[in-house]
Amino acid sequence: MSTHINAKNGDIAETVLLPGDPLRAKYIAETFLEDVVQYNTVRNAFGYTGTYKGKKISVQGTGMGIPSIMIYVEELIQEYGVETLMRVGSAGGMKKEVEIRDVVLAQAATTDSSVIKNTFDNQVDFSPIADFDLLKTAYEIGSKKGMKIKVGNVLSADRFYNKELDKMKLADYGVLAVEMEAAGLYLLAAKYNKKALSLLTISDHLLTGEETTSEEREKTFDDMMIIALETALQ
Ligand code: ADE
Repeated sequence: MSTHINAKNGDIAETVLLPGDPLRAKYIAETFLEDVVQYNTVRNAFGYTGTYKGKKISVQGTGMGIPSIMIYVEELIQEYGVETLMRVGSAGGMKKEVEIRDVVLAQAATTDSSVIKNTFDNQVDFSPIADFDLLKTAYEIGSKKGMKIKVGNVLSADRFYNKELDKMKLADYGVLAVEMEAAGLYLLAAKYNKKALSLLTISDHLLTGEETTSEEREKTFDDMMIIALETALQ
């Protein structure tokens, strides 16, 4: 047991998928995995382990924001020996080349959170980046399936509601989309030499105000899940 996860040693797979919403974790486990066992209920941050095409895979809900995802990632790595972590979430499009329903693979994660600076005593701006092998594999799998995949920098925003932050300036510097967790995941993956990737479906757009319907969200989410699961098999 760790502080926020009531699993025993061996209950959690080496590869873990990380949706923000715990009910998404339940949906993923029920929809895509076989022989599923629920290993966590603490704070309703549901966690499940099952198999996908014979490979043991876990799914852990992380909650929203960098502080929350970092609790689960730290414990998964430190207490349960997790090696590969893939966030599967949603993001708001920031550039017009990125359309709703697209899948964005976060090659890097820019952030206004102080967590990165604090880690390096304010001396450097460390760049949190994805694992290249996971990124390449996910891109190739998605492209082969004919999906619209964009790869690039994302903003891991500290606040969902923040008009003071100039997101359009970041878009001018190539930032594709905004979400709230990737930078924390990538920072810990770098610290512990683990593999991480954030896969994001564009659920809304900051430029156009468009939003996906719940059916569209489900369909694009399922497409992204297939990419994540097939990547996990490689
Ligand atoms: N996740 C999905 N859409 C988002 C947005 N507009 N801002 C931050 N996180 C998001």
